[in-house]
Amino acid sequence: MIELRGVTKVYGEGALAFQALKGVDLRIAQGDFVAIMGPSGSGKSTAMNTLGCLDRPTTGEYLFKGVHVEALSRDERALLRRRYFGFVFQGFNLLARTSAQENVELPLLYRGESAATRKAAAARALDAVGLKGWEHHTPAELSGGQQQRVAIARAIVTEPVVLLADEPTGNLDSQRSHEIMELLWRLNAEQGITVLMVTHEPDMAEYARRMVRFVDGVVDSDTLNPHPVGLRGKPAPVVPADASQGVA
Ligand SMILES: Nc1ncnc2c1ncn2[C@@H]1O[C@H](COP(=O)(O)OP(=O)(O)OP(=O)(O)O)[C@@H](O)[C@H]1O
Ligand SMILES: [Mg+2]
Repeated sequence: MIELRGVTKVYGEGALAFQALKGVDLRIAQGDFVAIMGPSGSGKSTAMNTLGCLDRPTTGEYLFKGVHVEALSRDERALLRRRYFGFVFQGFNLLARTSAQENVELPLLYRGESAATRKAAAARALDAVGLKGWEHHTPAELSGGQQQRVAIARAIVTEPVVLLADEPTGNLDSQRSHEIMELLWRLNAEQGITVLMVTHEPDMAEYARRMVRFVDGVVDSDTLNPHPVGLRGKPAPVVPADASQGVA
């Protein structure tokens, strides 16, 4: 579904130019769960921004479902992004004085969905992340883990094919981090959402089926995880019946 071919990314120009990606080749199948690791500055976020159609490669090709993303205009990329991708960031990026419900509805507002459709879809997404009953709380009234769940609900409310998460547990304690990882694992295993996640924490990467390591702007290693956490003899977490049907 996803293929990067010789992707480079240069920031800046002339003497200030910096090559963040130096020729990345990567193929990702639909339904995969990939942990992206590597030292700070190795190009992980740059690769994620490229994969999520937020940014264009300087050279090289990006094929998404056979479409050459590098050849698309900014508007075409935005359409592709809204249709297929969900994003979760380290800092949650929620609107402060806005309820969980309204935060989750936002991507649907951009799509021009009706109020009734938005409300129903947001309620389903919040239920899927275990936040039923918290719809009317603002971020300040929620814990860090709950705020990240709201951010994940916002990312899945549009039913993305690919969920991109850049250090989703970076601001959370260990217990909250594992809860978020179980949630991502469930979205992958039970709803079939392709998950690409950047993490610095080996414990969190263990949930993924595959680990891709970036070093100095290239893919240094790409290994399968034969025993992802969440499948390792641990019973699958219970999912509410309506959540398993996905969000409309
Ligand atoms: N917008 C930008 N303009 C100029 N340089 C940039 C820009 N974004 C990233 N870089 C540079 O590109 C390199 C790769 O950055 P990137 O954010 O992809 O690293 P990373 O692997 O995500 O690091 P971290 O683990 O610290 O998040 C860094 O040296 C960074 O300074
Ligand atoms: Mg980064």
